[in-house]
Amino acid sequence: MLDSILVTGGAGYIGSHVVVTLLQSGHNVIVLDNLCNSSASSLDRAYQITGRKPVFIQGDVRDRELLDKLFTQHQVSSVLHFAGLKAVGESTREPLKYYENNIVGSVGLCQAMASAGVFKLVFSSSATVYGEPEQMPISESFATGAPTNPYGRSKLMTEQVLMDLASSDPRWSIALLRYFNPVGAHPTGLIGEDPNGIPNNLLPYISQVAIGKLKELTVFGSDYPTKDGTGVRDYIHVVDLAEGHLKALQAINDKQGLNVWNLGTGRGYSVLEMIRAFEQASNRVITYRMAPRRPGDIAECWAAPDKAEKELGWKAERTLNDMMIDTWRWQSLNPNGYTE
Ligand code: NAD
Ligand code: WQD
Repeated sequence: MLDSILVTGGAGYIGSHVVVTLLQSGHNVIVLDNLCNSSASSLDRAYQITGRKPVFIQGDVRDRELLDKLFTQHQVSSVLHFAGLKAVGESTREPLKYYENNIVGSVGLCQAMASAGVFKLVFSSSATVYGEPEQMPISESFATGAPTNPYGRSKLMTEQVLMDLASSDPRWSIALLRYFNPVGAHPTGLIGEDPNGIPNNLLPYISQVAIGKLKELTVFGSDYPTKDGTGVRDYIHVVDLAEGHLKALQAINDKQGLNVWNLGTGRGYSVLEMIRAFEQASNRVITYRMAPRRPGDIAECWAAPDKAEKELGWKAERTLNDMMIDTWRWQSLNPNGYTE
């Protein structure tokens, strides 16, 4: 039996881009996804891009019996764990759903891995675990802060669980990847972000205004202490992010214990800069209006990316214009996402 990489949540936005990168670099891939926030079409598209198919198992990461069967039937060398819920607002209304899915799901996965003798894990964490640091850029040596919502706390608590696990048993080799703001789509326009309902995140919102599905963008806050008063974030192209996962996977093959890496570009852009860059790339006008701050938002956030560069030999290569062009290509070729 050939070794495979298990990708939980592999039909989702980031997972599907990672699946493409893994297939293109010759890995065998098994995707476990319950499709609660995605479509299996993303995996058909991954096949169209790469000419290779991942094994797809539709199921829940909290289903222990299913995991045990999966590890018996397949020789899994490592696990990339994307499966989880990520809507910040919903997490405030339904915190237990988030703690159950994100924390309990991760604990069950680690238990199943340990009993199958699989000890290499890459976990999708988030810059949200830093809370609101006083200084920029944010480096991995910063203490984790106080995330402002249950989603963020579920990521921080899962990190803590994984830290305890790595300290308890030297067989574990775990990467915590703290993503900044993933955006963009595959340059083929075949896979991209397909949010359910009205998007919460900036770029999907902007691109739905551009295609005419939404009337105008609301800019949350124009009085932040930033370059133009609007929020500043470190947007990173999802294909750069996917390549970072491949590097992290290689790194944990040689390293034991737990390692933390920021995956960001090291550059911050404001909401107004994002609007302008999108207008330029799409040749469309984005109507927007200024509004009060969104509760829970921080003023600015960008990464110190040098630890990943030094230790993983990885750095984000794609420009803001690439992010915008690829987002617009995906949006205009697939106005209704994966729904035909
Ligand atoms: P996504 O919703 O597109 O992907 C998550 C996938 O997991 C979906 O396909 C969903 O169906 C699946 N899933 C959810 N719960 C599951 C369960 N219990 N069992 C099996 N499958 C399940 O989200 P994404 O943007 O691709 O995010 C992937 C991961 O990265 C998440 O853990 C998210 O918290 C984390 N992350 C995302 C961002 C971001 O801005 N997109 C930033 C930081 C971290
Ligand atoms: C970016 C900027 C908004 C929408 C969230 C999560 C974080 C991580 C990534 C998963 C901010 C402004 C947005 C809009 C706006 N996810 N904005 N109008 O808030 O940085 O991070 O996604 O881990 O945990 O919190 O991303 O895209 O929502 O916002 O003005 O309609 O755009 O205020 O300044 P955020 P975002």
